[in-house]
Amino acid sequence: MRDLKGLILSGGKGTRLRPITHTSAKQLVPVANKPVLFYGIEAMAAAGIREVGIVIAPETGGEIRAAAGDGERFGVRITYIEQDAPLGLAHAVLTAEPFLERSPFVMYLGDNLLRDGITDLVDAFRAEEPDALILLTPVPDPHNYGVAELDGGGRIARLVEKPQHPQTNLALVGVYMFSPHIFEAARAIEPSGRGELEITDAIQQLVDRSLRVDPHVVQGWWKDTGQVEDMLEANRLILDDLAERVEGELVETRVEGRVAIAPGARLERATVRGPAVVGAGSVIRDAYVGPYTAIGEGVRIERCEIEHSIVLADSTVENLEGRIEASLIGRNVRVGRSPALPRAYRLVVGDNAEIAIL
Ligand code: G1P
Repeated sequence: MRDLKGLILSGGKGTRLRPITHTSAKQLVPVANKPVLFYGIEAMAAAGIREVGIVIAPETGGEIRAAAGDGERFGVRITYIEQDAPLGLAHAVLTAEPFLERSPFVMYLGDNLLRDGITDLVDAFRAEEPDALILLTPVPDPHNYGVAELDGGGRIARLVEKPQHPQTNLALVGVYMFSPHIFEAARAIEPSGRGELEITDAIQQLVDRSLRVDPHVVQGWWKDTGQVEDMLEANRLILDDLAERVEGELVETRVEGRVAIAPGARLERATVRGPAVVGAGSVIRDAYVGPYTAIGEGVRIERCEIEHSIVLADSTVENLEGRIEASLIGRNVRVGRSPALPRAYRLVVGDNAEIAIL
């Protein structure tokens, strides 16, 4: 088999992660203080893939380029491919055809996370050389995904994108491996109800043409981080495997469990109960940081309690009585109590934000 290439899709509007995605690409929202996209690039590198194409959108492409660069630090070479409009995953494949040439390739949706990486699956694809290899996993809400129906022999019988009445609970995971047959298949399909060329329909074409599509059921966890709850859940799952490393400065501070504190962070009279991460240059003072919390760089947490949350860079949370939990706080945000009268809630909140007060 020719050497495999990698294709990471990092376009899309991220509407379900607004307002965070008003100002930043969804693939750059950090999980355990690392952009979601980087987990995908690292998975490719670990699987021995050296040439990686990243499909970007005109609106957020610049930011993705700035973050991932030429790929050297991941041990891969990155080529950026602009997709003018979000016309579907199969459209992205066709857009990337000049980069992919006739190589087989692994396609990875830039907002997906797979606990066990892709190395074993890539090895299986290299060894067995099917026309496509797809990953499936049981989910409680299959109507939100591409859904697979298998025949008695465990082969793919049918694939349906976001069916109203799913026949199984097996969702298509956002990692696919293809031979160049996928290009003909993608050219043969029509846009779906949502106006996109669906990769699910292109794979169905392969099945219809009696090409070999191998399904693999994913064993470790998988997350599509498209929504806030998924993001928090992914953060929890990644933090569960966290390696302890305390490099910041601790003053009268109690650290329990697995905690990673970056150099240049300062904790004073704080309690941090892991698993939790604190980014470089952050200050935590007279505060409690509870399990499953990721505090980004340059954040200030003072006289308050927070857990099971993600706080992005340069934000401040201070002087609160109740505990903050299950929250996603964007960049450069200020949350706090003000002494000014009248005692009232004062909010300057962006579009599509969500605030819940006791
Ligand atoms: C896409 C695919 C869907 C797949 C999902 C995995 O959905 O169309 O088949 O199950 O990714 O994350 P989308 O994120 O475009 O809704």
